[in-house]
Amino acid sequence: MAKSFILCYLLFFILPASMAATSVTQIKVTDNPADKLVAAINENRTAHKDSSLFDNPGLACLALQYIKAYQGDCGAVGGSDAKKPPESQFAEEFAPNCGVKASTLARITGRFLGCQTKYVHAPEAFSEILIRNQKGLDILYSKNHTEVGAAVTGTDGGSPYFWCVLFSNGKPNSTFAFEGGVAKPTKPGCYSGANDVCSGAHDWSQVSVMWLFAASVAIAMGFAFPL
Ligand SMILES: *[C@@H]1O[C@H](CO)[C@@H](O)[C@H](O)[C@H]1NC(C)=O
Ligand SMILES: *[C@@H]1O[C@H](CO)[C@@H](O)[C@H](O)[C@H]1NC(C)=O
Ligand SMILES: *[C@@H]1O[C@H](CO)[C@@H](O)[C@H](O)[C@H]1NC(C)=O
Repeated sequence: MAKSFILCYLLFFILPASMAATSVTQIKVTDNPADKLVAAINENRTAHKDSSLFDNPGLACLALQYIKAYQGDCGAVGGSDAKKPPESQFAEEFAPNCGVKASTLARITGRFLGCQTKYVHAPEAFSEILIRNQKGLDILYSKNHTEVGAAVTGTDGGSPYFWCVLFSNGKPNSTFAFEGGVAKPTKPGCYSGANDVCSGAHDWSQVSVMWLFAASVAIAMGFAFPL
């Protein structure tokens, strides 16, 4: 199945953390593919006897901003031309775009980022795109994480599809907090943890107005994020 895909893959691992993981159990079942990805991550971690991670919507919104910084450029996700948004953009751009209070940002303890031209469901994204080697498993099973946030989005016309997972060692109920405690809508795209019913890619492509919006966001981001 994977052979017909153009697959870009990149895995970052930064800033190992020293805090021990706490055990937080949280189960949310929605149609949102980002929530499903977090469910797949937590099922796999708990099967491996690691803690279930808190699904933090503020962190997940940052993951969506992280994807948008690539402006739909799958080629920039992996390979020799791989790009990565600078750390400073978390506080300067991603957090304000999400309405996340900059003072509540915590350390990122791992990231997964994948891009693929064909839409797959969350369990396949997990096993076929994001976790592809031992380094991926080491990040997945790290005891340093306490919380997680995931995002998925397509670009103009649907493809390519980006998946991003950010892990943190912050305190689940006080980090990546939204101003006023309310998640800011950041369509298009889906992010986890907000009890947001966000449809999968199949439905997105039926909403052409949304893609016009996506295109204008990408252009605006081009000025905001000269990568
Ligand atoms: C977890 O954090 C410790 C201490 O900072 C670091 O040595 C270790 O590499 C990290 N492990 C993973 C899998 O990130
Ligand atoms: C967890 O995910 C890894 C990577 O996809 C896979 O090899 C492993 O079989 C999974 N474990 C369980 C219990 O599903
Ligand atoms: C965070 O959780 C702890 C323990 O569950 C609780 O004591 C504390 O009041 C919570 N803080 C916030 C800001 O909700």
